[in-house]
Amino acid sequence: MSAAELPLILGIETSCDETGVGLVRGCELLSDEVASSVDQHARFGGVVPEVASRAHLEAMTPTVHRALDKAGLTLADVDAIAVTAGPGLAGALLVGVSAAKAYAMALGKPLYGVNHLVGHVAVDQLEHGPLPKPTIALLVSGGHTSLLLVRDLATDVTPLGDTVDDAAGEAYDKVARLLGLPYPGGPPIDRAAREANRAIRFPRGKWGDGTYDFSFSGLKTAVARWVEDGVRDGRDLPVADIAAGFQESVVDVLTRKAVDACLEHGVEHLVISGGVAANSRLRALAEERCADAGVTLRVPRPRLCTDNGAMIAALGAEVVAADLPPSSLNLATDTSLPVDRPLAA
Ligand code: KG4
Ligand code: ZN
Repeated sequence: MSAAELPLILGIETSCDETGVGLVRGCELLSDEVASSVDQHARFGGVVPEVASRAHLEAMTPTVHRALDKAGLTLADVDAIAVTAGPGLAGALLVGVSAAKAYAMALGKPLYGVNHLVGHVAVDQLEHGPLPKPTIALLVSGGHTSLLLVRDLATDVTPLGDTVDDAAGEAYDKVARLLGLPYPGGPPIDRAAREANRAIRFPRGKWGDGTYDFSFSGLKTAVARWVEDGVRDGRDLPVADIAAGFQESVVDVLTRKAVDACLEHGVEHLVISGGVAANSRLRALAEERCADAGVTLRVPRPRLCTDNGAMIAALGAEVVAADLPPSSLNLATDTSLPVDRPLAA
């Protein structure tokens, strides 16, 4: 089948604070529009669910139309609708799923409720082509830190390890707050770390414990103690050195466990995705360690790492290609949809 004959998938993402709409055929990205409510949450230091839901409601229709216009397509061209069914914020998910049902019903096209986490992995296909089978995926976002063995994006995703407390992105956001840096904390910590003179050495959570689980709350506490001690002693806070030390601890553990998982499972390909995959130091260290271990690394461009609709359309395209049955129009949202269910129901 040529690319033009593949079904056109409209992907809708509303699990957190980004209203994302993407249009995809197979591995071809046609359009990717995102309306973010991040500015409305910044002063609270985290996402306020009710504010996010209201913003999704207002952004949904305009974002769908913008995505179609940019691709020079209309709703009549859409062959199937994929939507994030979970995991995510209850009210936010509900807005996207309700909109997707309305489009599916009005257009008489099938609806697929898909998994946000697997979408983060699937999006890499839009940049680097079909994912080799199997691939190890390191998923690092604001809500999740997971290592996955992906034999098939639509049907066979096995979790190898997860965070036991804070997710990697959550740790970035909390540490940024401790350092007086803005929300979301990943980008400012990434930037500050580049100005460091001497990175401060912080502990590595669950280091060498023989599992693929992660823990970042001890690290966060260690940073908090460092900051408190400095304030008590009247010292200037070496923000860049703390940021660099914190970041090194996070990316050191992430990359080491990811490469270990590849070696143990005899898998030659690693994909890193999710918001934290936009981190420059994570990308550089992963590149280095993968090269040393003979593992081929794939990381989507930063824009595709953070939440977007194209990732949901990309997974939708896989699910359609695998001939899985569409979701019913009674599709329910699932705030804690497990990662081993790429298609919700
Ligand atoms: O995947 P994502 O957009 O949303 C979730 O599904 O959670 O990830 C958001 C997270 C935030 O915690 C943000 O601080 C982090 O990704 N992030 C980064 C960077 N850019 C975004 N973390 C580290 N370095 C970055 N450059
Ligand atoms: Zn996400």
